[in-house]
Amino acid sequence: MRDDLLGNLRQLLELDRGLGLDWIGRGGLTTSDLALLAPPVSAPVITAPTAPVIPPTDTLRACAADIANCRACGLGASRITTVPGDGDHQADIVFVGEAPGADEDASGVPFAGKEGDLLNKMIAAMGLRRDQVFITNVLKCRPPANRLPAADEVTACVGYLHRQLALIRPKVICTLGNVPLRALMGDDRLGVTGARGTRFDYRGTPLIPTFHPGFLLRNDSAKKPCWEDLKSVLAVLGRVPPSR
Ligand code: URA
Repeated sequence: MRDDLLGNLRQLLELDRGLGLDWIGRGGLTTSDLALLAPPVSAPVITAPTAPVIPPTDTLRACAADIANCRACGLGASRITTVPGDGDHQADIVFVGEAPGADEDASGVPFAGKEGDLLNKMIAAMGLRRDQVFITNVLKCRPPANRLPAADEVTACVGYLHRQLALIRPKVICTLGNVPLRALMGDDRLGVTGARGTRFDYRGTPLIPTFHPGFLLRNDSAKKPCWEDLKSVLAVLGRVPPSR
C-alpha cells in the first residue's frame, strides 16, 4: 500500500517535471516527502474573526499612504521604505508573505529578491502574470537582519492587511508560510505543515495555506505539495494550470 502510494507520487512528480515545472524540484521522492503531503484541500472549514468596517471611499492608494506614514512599531525607525504591496487592485488571487527583506526594503516592491524570483515562477506555472495577482506581506516594514516578525509588530501592522483584503475582495487568498496564516486566522497554533490541505475561511474568502518561497528554496521536497496547493488555488477560480 505504502509502496503503491510512493509509486503514484513518483509518477506525479515525473509528470510535473515532464511538464517543465522545474521549480517543483529535482530530488526523487523520499519518505520525508510523505510527511509533507497532506490530503487534498477539502472540507474542514475554519473561520477567521469578523471583518472591520471599511469606509466606501477608502482605496489601496490611501492605505499605502497611511502605511508610508506609519510609526506604530519600532520598524518605522529602521526601514528605508515601506512595502505596502503590489499588483492588480482587483485581483482574484492575493498572495500574502511574511515581511519585506533587504531587497524589498530598498525597492519598495514585495518579493523583489531570490524568493520573489521563485514566487514569479510559481505564478507563471499557474498560467498567470505577476501583475494579474496582488502580492503583499503581513508586515509592511523590514524587520532588521531578516528576523521573524515580533508579535507586537504583527499586532501593530496586521490591520493594514485586513484593510487591503477588504478593499481588493479577492476570490482566494494564498498564504506563504506560517506568519500570514497565523495572522489572518488569528491563531498562533497553526503551522503550514499541518494546515496545508485544509481550505480555511477568511471572512468569507477561501484561504489556502502553502509554504513560503524561502522554505521552498531550502527544501526541494516541499515543492510538489506546494504545487498541489497552487492547483487548489486555481481550482477555487474554476481554472487548471496551462499544459506545457
Ligand atoms: N520578500 C517579501 O516581500 N516577503 C517575504 O515574506 C519574503 C521576501
